[in-house]
Order: sequence, then structure tokens, then C-alpha cells
Amino acid sequence: MNNHYKSRRRGWRRSWSFVAATTGATIGLGNLWKFSYLAGENGGAAFVLAYLICIVVVAMPVMIAEVVLGSRGRSNPVSTMQDVSLEAGASSSWQLIGWLGCIAGLLVLSYYSVIAGWSFAYVGKLLGGEFVAASAQLSGDMFNNLLAAPALLMQWQAFFLLSILLVVALGVRKGISVAARLLIPLLLVMLIALAIYSSQVGDFKAAAEFLFQPDFSALNQQALLDALGHAFFTLSIGVGAMMAYGAYVPDQRSITGMVSTVVLMDTLVSVLAGLAIFPLVFSLNMAPAMGPGLMFVAMPYGFGNMIYGNYFGALFFVMVSLAAITSGVALLEPATVWLAQQFRWWRPVAAVVMVLVVWLLGLATIFSFNIWQDIDLFGMSVFSFLDFVTANLMLPVGGFLTAIFVGWVMRKEVLRDELYVESRQIFSLWHWLLRYIAAPGVLVVFLWSLSPWLKNLFIE
Ligand code: PFF
Repeated sequence: MNNHYKSRRRGWRRSWSFVAATTGATIGLGNLWKFSYLAGENGGAAFVLAYLICIVVVAMPVMIAEVVLGSRGRSNPVSTMQDVSLEAGASSSWQLIGWLGCIAGLLVLSYYSVIAGWSFAYVGKLLGGEFVAASAQLSGDMFNNLLAAPALLMQWQAFFLLSILLVVALGVRKGISVAARLLIPLLLVMLIALAIYSSQVGDFKAAAEFLFQPDFSALNQQALLDALGHAFFTLSIGVGAMMAYGAYVPDQRSITGMVSTVVLMDTLVSVLAGLAIFPLVFSLNMAPAMGPGLMFVAMPYGFGNMIYGNYFGALFFVMVSLAAITSGVALLEPATVWLAQQFRWWRPVAAVVMVLVVWLLGLATIFSFNIWQDIDLFGMSVFSFLDFVTANLMLPVGGFLTAIFVGWVMRKEVLRDELYVESRQIFSLWHWLLRYIAAPGVLVVFLWSLSPWLKNLFIE
């Protein structure tokens, strides 16, 4: 009997609820904070182009595959992988994908919560008028002062973690999709308004050239690996989150259609954020490659020098914080559900345990900006190292294994059973991309990007 005749437990009934919740999980600090500083560090347009190609031919097919797995398994990522590998007659070792995902999710959340804390802190700073008529220098100093205060960073990180704890513990799935439905249009409108504002006061021409006129000499190994890793990061794949959300996918709806909508919105938000940030960066003569502080220095300066800027600025950071909450929930969810189901724990208890683990891990990131700032791991700070290992290594590896499993190990009839609304052409295109482009693509980028590093390792 076809699986889609089975009763669907606790699923969302409408496409929009799934799309809203999933968009909430994908749009976050990755679009607003990370995309701009990565583009800045990697020379702009060539990186943006590589990132877009990675999204379309690698990350999107893998995202669909993850949702399909979730929809088939209808459980936490570990149990889902156990069930679907059993059904495929494959080794139970494939549950590694679920494990890897849960661990990567917690590691990402450990630093994600610190950056989200910055955003919480900035709401108060803007409302309090701290940036009124600020110079770029002052804006930079304020950011550095925040980084130099571990106690303050811990307080804001804890505040963020408590917010997502509340959502995950209560299991307010409905709440997330309602909030996301309001948040996303508001965020889009605000980003469009900000992009227009900064194109008027800033150097729009330089920003547009930087973002859209590729200089391929900037596309080195590091840039390509960053582009691939960020495609996974921004779409929240490789951490089991899309499996967890896929478990609630509505019946009789096109998964590829819903995923495409999510990807489109996610990309739009990143590009708009770039258009809001870079005109200011160029008119201020800031270095686009200044790193993680880019958004937190450029935007407050912009707001500080605009009429009613305190209020718009505070609203902007409220939205960044809300976007971070809906993403943070997706990072915490897979591990929490696994813990609750595995040990039959009450969900809130499982959520508290996981948050405590994340909070402790997060201290490493907090200290890397101050008391541990001299610690060097393979030429990176502790924070950069964590980000590199998770976003650039663990997420693509998780995605690669997912592509192999769904593309090569699962039976086509089972996949067709989950994607039965799609036309034959769409289904075949997706399956082909997964098999012949996504999986080998990750491998090629990996080998090429890591080759100098591996060479050094063996020669030394
Ligand atoms: N996609 C989120 C962002 O761009 O901010 C980050 C993220 C959320 C990654 C959830 C992974 C995840 F499971």
C-alpha cells in the first residue's frame, strides 16, 4: 500500500504552514550577518555567483532529499534514518547521518547563540540612542567594547537560549509558523526600505559592482569552500533540521514546490541584506573584508545618521533577533526530539539538558573574542574554527551522505511515493541532480579546497 494513504500524524495541513515554518528555519543570521561578511571576505560577486550555483545544483536537491527522508520516517533524525535504511534493506550505519546532524546542530547553535546575543544587545543600544549621529569609528568601537565584555556576552547568549528553550519546550509548532508568517513579510519590506535608503545615502554603484560584477581571480579554494558551506548553512541542511520539519510535511502537496518557495525567499533576503549593507560599507571606506563585525558596525552607523534611526534600528535588530530565534529552534529541535524519544523524557526536560550543553559549548566562542583571543587553531580563532568545522565540513559531509543515501540507496518507488504530486520530469531532474551533480559536486569542492591543506599536512 502506498505510504501516502497511511495516516499522517501531527502534520501541518496546509502548504503555507510548512513553508512559513521552514522559511523561519532557513532565514536567520546566515542571511543577514554571515552572507554579507563572507561575500566581503571573498571578493564579492564571484563568491555570490558560486554560492548561487551551489544553492541550485547542490543544496536545493539535498534539501528536498532531507524533507523526503523526514516525510518518510516521521520521527527524529536518528530514528528516521534507522527506519528508512531498514526499509531500503541497507546497513543501519546510515543512522550516522542522524547522529552527525544532531551533533552539528548543537555545535552550530553554540556560536549562533552568541551572535544572536549581539543582536539582542543592539536592540537596547539603538533604542537608547547610543548611535545617534555616530561616526564610523564610534560604531566600530562600540562593537569592540561589546566583544571585550565576556559577562555581557554571556548574559545576552543566555537570554537568547532561554527564548528558544521556551519555544522548543512548549513545542509550539503553530506559534513558530504564525510568527514566521508575520516576520517574513515584515523583514522583506524592511530590507527593501533599507536597501533603498542605503542606496541613497551610500555608494550604491560600488556596492552593486562588488556584488554583481564577478572578478573570478578572487575565487580561490577558500572562497569556493565558503560558498558551498554557506549554501548548506543558509538552507539549514546537513543538521537533520529539514528531516525534523519534513516529519510534519502536509500530505498531497508538492515538496519540490514548497522547497523552491523557501529557497527563493531565503536567497532574496540575503541579496537584499547585501544591498542594504554594502552601499554603507563603501561610502564609509570600511574594509568589506573586516569579518564578522560587518553588519554590526555598518548598520548601526546607518541608522544613527537617519531620521528616527533609533526606532528603525531597534526594529531591524528585533527582526534579526526573531529570525535568529526561528532558526535557533530548528537547530535545537532535532537533538531535543531525539533525547526525549530515546529516553522517554518529558520534552521540556530534554530541551533544558540540550540548552545547558549548548550554553557550556558557547563559552568557547565567547572567550575567543576576549580572554582566549590569542588561541590559534590551524590559523583560526576558536570561533572561526568552530564555524569552519561545522559549516564548511560537517554540513557538507552530512549533505553528501544524504545525497548518496537518497540518490543511490533508497528505492526509486519509495521516493516516488513521497514525491507523488510532482510531474515525472521534475522528479527525474531532481533525482538526476542528486545522483550526478550534488553528491560528486561536494566531493570535488572538498578535494580541491582541502588539497593545499592536506598537502601541507603530509609534507610536514
Ligand atoms: N539557516 C540558518 C541561517 O541562515 O541563519 C542557520 C541554521 C538554522 C542552520 C538551522 C542550520 C539549522 F538547522
